[in-house]
Amino acid sequence: MRAASCHAVSEISVLDRNAVFAAVSPAAAIDAVREAFLAHHRGEWVMPSKVYLQSPPHGDFRAMPARGGDLAMLKWISSFPGNGSSGLPSVIGVVIVNDARTSVPLLMLDAGAVTALRTGAVAAIAARALARPDARTVGLIGCGVNGAWAARCLATAGYGPGVCCDPRADVASALAEELGWRVGSRAQALACDIVCCVTPGHEIVVDAGDLRPGTHLNMLGADGPGKAEASIGAVASCALFCDEWAQASHGGELTGVVEAGLVGRDAVTDLGAVLAGDAAGRPGPESVTLFDSTGLAIQDLAIAAAALAAHRAGRVAAQTVRL
Ligand SMILES: NC(=O)c1ccc[n+]([C@@H]2O[C@H](COP(=O)([O-])OP(=O)(O)OC[C@H]3O[C@@H](n4cnc5c(N)ncnc54)[C@H](O)[C@@H]3O)[C@@H](O)[C@H]2O)c1
Repeated sequence: MRAASCHAVSEISVLDRNAVFAAVSPAAAIDAVREAFLAHHRGEWVMPSKVYLQSPPHGDFRAMPARGGDLAMLKWISSFPGNGSSGLPSVIGVVIVNDARTSVPLLMLDAGAVTALRTGAVAAIAARALARPDARTVGLIGCGVNGAWAARCLATAGYGPGVCCDPRADVASALAEELGWRVGSRAQALACDIVCCVTPGHEIVVDAGDLRPGTHLNMLGADGPGKAEASIGAVASCALFCDEWAQASHGGELTGVVEAGLVGRDAVTDLGAVLAGDAAGRPGPESVTLFDSTGLAIQDLAIAAAALAAHRAGRVAAQTVRL
């Protein structure tokens, strides 16, 4: 009896990057992440603040826990910007899912794939909730790993065609070819109905003079302290929405306007409240709406839970590791 229970705890299934993408389609990711925002808004899914562990001068580690349904999850992920020079990814990590009733570990997943799916999904969810009903075209500024998945999820949600803008011409053209979109300049991307920014956040790509009436902006790149993709003037002129106020006001696109005293809590609406119908979305057709995504652990849990369900249903094979 004791041996059997020890055996159950000592084996854990592992989904690598390809297996995560095979388990959870962009459409499934959009549905799962939307449900997670609603469950968090109702107080059913819980999420303590993310913890940063600095590793100077190389980068930092982030611990992102969440609990919802019968599952608990931790994403343990790094941001080491200089890793590229030694041929390593700048973002590396794992997600661990446990049974929340027994604590038994159930699944480990590649965190990069989980992050890409949940980040892409929220771009589509925010566009559906906040863009004009007749919005179609997408301007993607920053076509790297997470920008590409935002574009794929927006395309899955029915948006496009789009303009792919990136100083790395090869990644922009590969993504444009994949989706049937086109490569274009920053100005051409900014002229689209939905503008999605997913750059490293080291330089301003949206200024106040760039804003056109009726645009919806998804700001995804500035997900930590010291990053910004829009100028303070641009952000202050928009109707503002965020994934979670606590994170967005301290380490997101909203941080600059909050620290300048231009915007307070009352001026920013959480996406979950809009999705639940408890708060108004777009004020009018001429408004410029801005959604600040900083990335939430509940989004990661949503993808991990969907992947676990796919694995349990036999739709994706996992490796097994004996601990
Ligand atoms: N909000 C979230 O939930 C979330 C999730 C994941 C990553 N991020 C953030 O998104 C950003 C991008 O992450 P990634 O993993 O896709 O990185 P990446 O390096 O794969 O891609 C970034 C891309 O931006 C391009 N770029 C740089 N400056 C640009 C400019 N001025 N105009 C247009 N393109 C430009 C780069 O050439 C690159 O292709 C990072 O800051 C990351 O921390 C946010």
